[in-house]
Amino acid sequence: MVKFTVIGGDASSDLAKRIARRLKAPYIKTGKRIFPDGESKITISQIPKKNIVVVVQSTYPPVDTNLLELLSIVSKVQKFSSKVYAVIPYMGYARQDREFLDGEIITIGVVGRLLKASGVKKILTVDIHSKLALKQLKISSENVSAVEGLVKHFQKMKLKNPLVVSPDLGGQERAKSFASLLKTDFVALKKHRNRKTGKVNILSGKVDVKDRDLILVDDMISTGGSIIKATQFLKKQKCKRVFVACTHALLVNDAVKNIKNAGVSQIISTNTIPGNSAKVDVSKVISDVLK
Ligand code: R5P
Repeated sequence: MVKFTVIGGDASSDLAKRIARRLKAPYIKTGKRIFPDGESKITISQIPKKNIVVVVQSTYPPVDTNLLELLSIVSKVQKFSSKVYAVIPYMGYARQDREFLDGEIITIGVVGRLLKASGVKKILTVDIHSKLALKQLKISSENVSAVEGLVKHFQKMKLKNPLVVSPDLGGQERAKSFASLLKTDFVALKKHRNRKTGKVNILSGKVDVKDRDLILVDDMISTGGSIIKATQFLKKQKCKRVFVACTHALLVNDAVKNIKNAGVSQIISTNTIPGNSAKVDVSKVISDVLK
């Protein structure tokens, strides 16, 4: 049996403890002190044994701080183990996976190089924004899906004949598998995002959603702009209630308030990012691939 030690970064300590319990592995906590100038000083409470060390840290906001803390922990523990795995349940910068406009930088590639240079041998993440982002990391990596867990949650809600909706064409594979597990149908909207302003618009024509409860499925919600536009569009087409299922609920600024004001009944997300909507635990899917 493989022997693991799990270390939880400050951004993911609860999830890291759950993973450690499932792996029956010792758990090492980290300490953190923030200096007045904003620098973080990270400490590990124990030296890990010479086995596979799994460092768990999502890189949600403050993205750069959480990333640097992860890099710091890894650079410390790689002195004691030749196999350091980084579990990054929410992978920040994954949306910067290509040069959309001239002069842009593929920052997810930079993240991959930093992780590699710090001593990461393998990355494990959950519902990364795109396959391309995973490729750009240029390091051994695995992406697991939270869709099954989200579907199980919605099965318990016993919605009558819900329709699964992807707010954009890029998410239609996710919506398709969500709908197939929930044994219902799905539709994908056509969304346009202005690459300069970030503003989104729904370009789809009429969709048949009348009198149906809808589940909007997305990988992540940041400002809520995509979900809000999709909800407003769908409400105009006389749907019933709108629920949201997403893996990563960043919900920055007033996203929750704005999403509720647009008419969304409930947001369900996973604990890749802790918060009020995080009802689905991803520790099992993560530990199952590690075992
Ligand atoms: C875009 O392709 C993603 O899948 C999400 O729909 C998007 O990034 C969410 O961002 P926001 O909530 O700011 O619209």
